[in-house]
Parts: sequence; C-alpha cells; structure tokens
Amino acid sequence: MDTNIGLFSWAVLFASVFVVPPAVAQEDKISAGAAIYSTYCQTCHGDELVNTGGQSFDLRRLKADERPRFENSVLNGRNQMPPWKGVINATQLDLLWNYIRANAYQK
Ligand code: HEC
Repeated sequence: MDTNIGLFSWAVLFASVFVVPPAVAQEDKISAGAAIYSTYCQTCHGDELVNTGGQSFDLRRLKADERPRFENSVLNGRNQMPPWKGVINATQLDLLWNYIRANAYQK
C-alpha cells in the first residue's frame, strides 16, 4: 500500500546521491583551481585572471579546444614563463583548467 512512497523516497535518494554531487564537485574544482592559480600564477597573470597589461597572456582567451596548448605551455614554459613541470601535477593542472574555463570569454 505504501509502495509508491517507498519508490518516491528511493528516487529522491537516488537523485541526491547521483545527480547533485557532480554539480557540487564542479564548483569545488573551480575553487580549488582558483587557489592553485593564486599560489602559482597570479603574480604574472593578474588577480582573478584579470591581466594587468604586462607581458603575460590573458588566460581567459583560451578556448575550449586549446587544452593541449595550455598543458604544453604550462608544463614546458614559454618565453618569459618558467616551466611548471615537477611543480604542478596532473590533478592541479586539471583544476587550473577548470578554473580558467569557468572564466573564459568564449565558453
Ligand atoms: C613569472 C611570471 C609567470 C608566472 C608565475 C606564470 N606565467 Fe604563464 N605566462 C607568463 C608570460 C610572460 C607568458 C607569455 C609568454 C609568451 O608567449 O611570450 C605566459 C603565458 C602563459 C600561457 C599561454 C601560452 C601560450 O600558449 O601562448 C599560459 C597557458 C600560461 N601562461 C599559464 C600559466 C599558469 C597556469 C601559471 C601558473 C601555474 C602561469 N602561467 C604562471 C608568465 C608567467
């Protein structure tokens, strides 16, 4: 007789376990990326990605398909930018990318 309520509860439980966390996880990635950015990148690339007009690159210009370029430049360095290989690990690189993409001009 209360089978429907039981099913409904399961549906709510399912939704809260499997649907909500990915959204939260994405937010967490972005804020974790922001923290890494402020530790390693902010001095040259500007507060909250806003370039102050020096020689560095405005990271918000990176497009969705430019992840290989991003990873290559960050790990191997580029002109005035030092290489980050051995400093930034793959997980941190992924978090940085999530943070940059969340603030990109072209989503
Ligand atoms: C010491 C200053 C400095 C720091 C710190 C720095 N960068 Fe850079 N970055 C630069 C400069 C200067 C350029 C422009 C290089 C060029 O193309 O001449 C640049 C360029 C880039 C580019 C674009 C390269 C391309 O493909 O054109 C990316 C991506 C980048 N930086 C990411 C990062 C990330 C992520 C961090 C933090 C882990 C970081 N940078 C930290 C100075 C810095």
